[in-house]
Amino acid sequence: MMRSLDKDYLSKAIKDFCKGTSVSSGKFSCEAPGSVKDLEWNHMDQSHRPYIHSTYNDELRISIGENFANSLTKWGNWPFFLNVMDVRVKDGQYYQTFTIGGLIYVHTVIEMGYINESKSSLEINWHISSHWILKPIHKFLNRKIYKLNIRLQEEDYVIRDQRYKLREKGYNFRSDPPNYYSSNMLTHNTIYPPLGNTLKLKISEFVESNSLDNEKNKNLYKFGKDDTSFIIKKISEDEFCIWPSVCPHEGASLEDANFCKNSVKCPWHGLSFTGVSLSSKNNCISKYGFTYKLDEEYIKIDDDRSIKD
Ligand code: FES
Ligand SMILES: [Fe+2]
Repeated sequence: MMRSLDKDYLSKAIKDFCKGTSVSSGKFSCEAPGSVKDLEWNHMDQSHRPYIHSTYNDELRISIGENFANSLTKWGNWPFFLNVMDVRVKDGQYYQTFTIGGLIYVHTVIEMGYINESKSSLEINWHISSHWILKPIHKFLNRKIYKLNIRLQEEDYVIRDQRYKLREKGYNFRSDPPNYYSSNMLTHNTIYPPLGNTLKLKISEFVESNSLDNEKNKNLYKFGKDDTSFIIKKISEDEFCIWPSVCPHEGASLEDANFCKNSVKCPWHGLSFTGVSLSSKNNCISKYGFTYKLDEEYIKIDDDRSIKD
């Protein structure tokens, strides 16, 4: 079992292993909002890729364990794919490899580190190796991988920033501590901070309360506290549909998500969540860690006391 990997060792080891091999190396580094823990989770979470990244049209998971993942990634819309092998070497260090047609190997070492309470570092070192005759392709590939890394980090920013802000507000996740297996569980992993006191929304003041100010969702309203708020859709005078405004899966904001009828589709992993349908006939429901009640005057929301985390 590897304890750690020296990123500079790979290039030399490959050349020694197979004489006549050319190796070109490249590097990308950046800072990211939030803790190393969330950066690692984001790296191991493979399910967000088709939704957040324009590069990945689709991927097929072959096998996954706590410290590895093996998948096929489609290259655009071509009938062509890469077999990508990911390994967690130790906390904050990852190894990834794929081959292009068995002729060119790309080996990557990814390292994440602590900068301060609100920032982490990410360093990606890759080595492209092939027969020397294919060396002219390395330059093109090197540029492509560098640009790809810039784009991936930009696209992931929204996820990292949101997780950082949620942790600051007291949120936790059942996928902690992250590994390849827990990071890919499509279950309700968000642990909301305790509400403390009952949240009350006076039904007669419903329309005046915060309308979600976006074009897509005009009939939706937001209410609650800064750390835990809810989105409410008024169906009729005595019927309402309610969702936590933070996704029950892994914490995306649902405020700009696509709502239709009684469900919402989350932008991070494409999961759909049915709202809590409160009506005079069905006036007390527990879901997503909360208990929702409707009486003649108020909608009331409490922590679901039957859940212990
Ligand atoms: S955060 Fe994953 S589906 Fe919402
Ligand atoms: Fe990503």
